[in-house]
Amino acid sequence: MNGDMLAIYPGSFDPLTNGHVDIIQRGSRLFDRIVVAILLNVEKAPLFTVAERVEIAREVFAGYPNVEVDTFDGLLVEYARRKGAGVIVRGLRAISDFEYEMQMALMNRHLNPDVETVFMMPAETYTYVSSRLVKEVVALGGSVTNLVPTLVEDRLREKKRGRGN
Ligand code: PNS
Repeated sequence: MNGDMLAIYPGSFDPLTNGHVDIIQRGSRLFDRIVVAILLNVEKAPLFTVAERVEIAREVFAGYPNVEVDTFDGLLVEYARRKGAGVIVRGLRAISDFEYEMQMALMNRHLNPDVETVFMMPAETYTYVSSRLVKEVVALGGSVTNLVPTLVEDRLREKKRGRGN
């Protein structure tokens, strides 16, 4: 094992927003390596398949040698253990995020005290951006320019066309 500080940035990323991108960029400056870990989610009906989300994140971060994109299922802390990561990164946008995030951080600490959760705040321009709202706005014909990477905007438009509206 080397002394590299590896961080995991887990989430659904359905889709990746500029808020996520901002946190990943900050993380890539702070840690030796950051792994964007996309949850293989079985319960919700996602807009993008996991394969599509992986492809998008890989393309957006192609120029970042210390950003890796991966998928995981099961317990996040077990995944972190397998990867040899000491840090879980989560973004905090507003007070409303805090309760759920604190619960998760403390549960993860209970499950594995060796992994520390680190919270980072995105640039204030993105504090109101969420994947859920981005999907809703696009479905209803609104623009999400500057809120998601151009690639994501294109893919959202393709999806909408594919669904016949
Ligand atoms: O982007 P999201 O949907 O807010 O991400 C939530 C995520 C993936 C971080 C969370 O659901 C998770 O860690 N799931 C893995 C299962 C797990 O470890 N559950 C216990 C965590 S307290």
